[in-house]
Amino acid sequence: VKGRTALIAGNWKMNLDHLQAVAFVQKLHWALKDVKHDFDSVDVTVFPPFTDLRSVQTLLDADKIPFGLGAQDLSVHDSGAYTGEVSGAFLKKLDVSSVIIGHSERREYHAEGDDVVAAKVQAALRNGLVPVICVGETSEDLEKFGASAVPVGQLEKALEGVPAGAEIVVAYEPVWAIGSGQAATPEQAQEVCQKLRGVVIDKLGEAVGATTRVLYGGSVKSSNIASFLREPDVDGALVGGASLKVDEFASIIRYQK
Ligand code: G3P
Repeated sequence: VKGRTALIAGNWKMNLDHLQAVAFVQKLHWALKDVKHDFDSVDVTVFPPFTDLRSVQTLLDADKIPFGLGAQDLSVHDSGAYTGEVSGAFLKKLDVSSVIIGHSERREYHAEGDDVVAAKVQAALRNGLVPVICVGETSEDLEKFGASAVPVGQLEKALEGVPAGAEIVVAYEPVWAIGSGQAATPEQAQEVCQKLRGVVIDKLGEAVGATTRVLYGGSVKSSNIASFLREPDVDGALVGGASLKVDEFASIIRYQK
């Protein structure tokens, strides 16, 4: 409808080990068997922990399962003496296509500021990965500055130095809505997502702005997904908790029904 295929992204966070991950993907694929044709109108990407990526990739490949594979983070470096880090080059080798960057949990628990986020966006693009750039305001930010000022500022900084024409995904995740059961309203999400698209247009040009998918994330479930997707500037969802339940995540993917 909007000329942008909806993207339903499941961020598993630190849940599901590699055996559970394989079982989950098999069940999810099975639950969606009857709606195969719908994959023309929706892209599904799962973002498992690093230790699951190889197993999930092998399964997707072997069973021709049409889900994209994403990672939850990457290093700013491509290789070298950085103990514990995982590089974009390694992810690319595993057929990972996209990577979450700037999630509020990384910003909060790992002190990742806008500079690190921008460097990770560069690392992703350099390695042929689509950065899924997360931005969002805390409840204090919301009170002080309103909903859009902080996410708009975060996105502007994340896009510094990104070449015009780059493929990116933007995810608006108000921090107060994450895991709280209290989602933003579709109108709130639309207002901020529209402004974020404006930033993409300013920085990367009109054509990229028109094709870039801007997702909403924060307490998305099967009962509210359709209301978000109806908004003109919301092109999908980054789903946390509800992406860990097969039936619920399958229902979110079938949101058109
Ligand atoms: O990245 C997705 C996430 O932060 C939203 O989590 O559990 O509110 O869907 P949840």
